[in-house]
Amino acid sequence: MADFDLVIRNGTVVTASDTQHCDIGIKGGIIAMLGRGLAAGEREIDAAGKLVLPGAIDSHCHIEQKSSAGVICADDFYSATVSAAFGGTTTVIPFAAQHRGQSLRQVVEEYHDAAGPKAVIDYAFHLIISDPTEQVLGQELPALIRDGYTSFKVYMTYDLLRLDDGQMLDILALARREGAMMMVHAENHDIIAWLANRLLERGMSQPRYHAVSHARIAEGEATNRAVALAELLDVPLLIVHVSAAEAIEVIRDAQTKGLRIYGETCPQYLFLTADDISMDLEGTKFCCSPPPRDKAAQEAVWRGLANGTFQVFSSDHAPYRYDETGKLLKGDKTTFKDTANGVPGIELRVPLLFSEGVGKGRIDINRFVALTATNHARIYGLYPKKGTIAVGSDADIAIWDPQREVTVRAADIHDNVGYTPYEGMQLTGWPVTVLSRGRVVVDDGKLVAERGSGNFLPCALSDAAKPLGRTTPELAFAAATSGAPLV
Ligand code: URP
Ligand code: ZN
Ligand code: ZN
Repeated sequence: MADFDLVIRNGTVVTASDTQHCDIGIKGGIIAMLGRGLAAGEREIDAAGKLVLPGAIDSHCHIEQKSSAGVICADDFYSATVSAAFGGTTTVIPFAAQHRGQSLRQVVEEYHDAAGPKAVIDYAFHLIISDPTEQVLGQELPALIRDGYTSFKVYMTYDLLRLDDGQMLDILALARREGAMMMVHAENHDIIAWLANRLLERGMSQPRYHAVSHARIAEGEATNRAVALAELLDVPLLIVHVSAAEAIEVIRDAQTKGLRIYGETCPQYLFLTADDISMDLEGTKFCCSPPPRDKAAQEAVWRGLANGTFQVFSSDHAPYRYDETGKLLKGDKTTFKDTANGVPGIELRVPLLFSEGVGKGRIDINRFVALTATNHARIYGLYPKKGTIAVGSDADIAIWDPQREVTVRAADIHDNVGYTPYEGMQLTGWPVTVLSRGRVVVDDGKLVAERGSGNFLPCALSDAAKPLGRTTPELAFAAATSGAPLV
């Protein structure tokens, strides 16, 4: 009998900290041994000339999610996870999204019903909190955190999702008490609404004006405010989908002050600009919030990836078809205000960063692994089960051919969207074999995983979400004079 179920031989194994030539022995879905010249496996994969990387984690994607405007995603848990796997991703963390009036627990059950029979790779859930009632904050959310839903997103904009600063503080205080990780969509709602109204009054309703209304100052201001609220209560905070230099600067400054402020960015902010959002309706394909900016902002995002301002690189896959179910909700009368926000990217996220980041020398391969896999696992409580190649970790592995040349074509992508913002890009490097818990999921361009074979992953509380133990002079005074801290 062979020592291992599977041995991956002769590859270059890369983690967030090391690069080494070794074999990987896998048994029962777990990495059992790393070393040279390992004993035989029942199955063997020769990875000579290939890079052997941890399966990537996409911790920001919208799957089978109903938007606050009632629009349904083009991808369900099958198509989204298949598409993710073809791009080297082996774990997704989409959202179980609460709409106002809904019970969070009920929402989570509905997302489980959707994901369980369909996902082909493993998944966890973040929560979206849009209705922080006493019942939600006092009972449902603390219980859900204990059940493995240890991170949640809140919004500072969108009519039906946004929270005011007081509600943000209530939730930050809860995150601190429970040890959960809070994520925030930081854009100033009133600036966006004010600009949008002025534009629409003047008949400026074409897609390109989406990027005018979502001004970079709106993103910078809200990011600054979110950081201030987090600093006041000494709570770590992750700012999602950062696009503007103004926001990057705020995050960098906060980190320099020693605050636990984390940043996430996405492919659309590296490879698109506002000028991709054309005046005609095709421009809706590029409308996302925050919008892509300009070449200078792209450079600022690259710098933030290279210098550690950003810890995670996610897709923010928000799959809407170019028809009346998604981008063209009101047909040819669709204004920039009506169109569904978001761009697809769950399959291309990692290949884009590999080709243009590692391939062009902007980031090294270890940082690439950290940004696409390891840091997601660390921040959201999945490490070391996920996000690395180590003895005892799940054998979630992507074997990359660093020389493979691929021309991006929507027709070759496995999501249900029907277009890609990156059409025609020439990429070098592609994941050719992808394993989830030792099972081959993608084998040289062919799907071999079964529907529903992905597992739910409860998340632990993460060290990244721990408060620093700092306070402000005002809160210190209140604590000293009352004998009890305010938070
Ligand atoms: O435009 C975007 N990013 N749509 C997805 C929803 C969100 O806010 O992440
Ligand atoms: Zn968002
Ligand atoms: Zn999103």
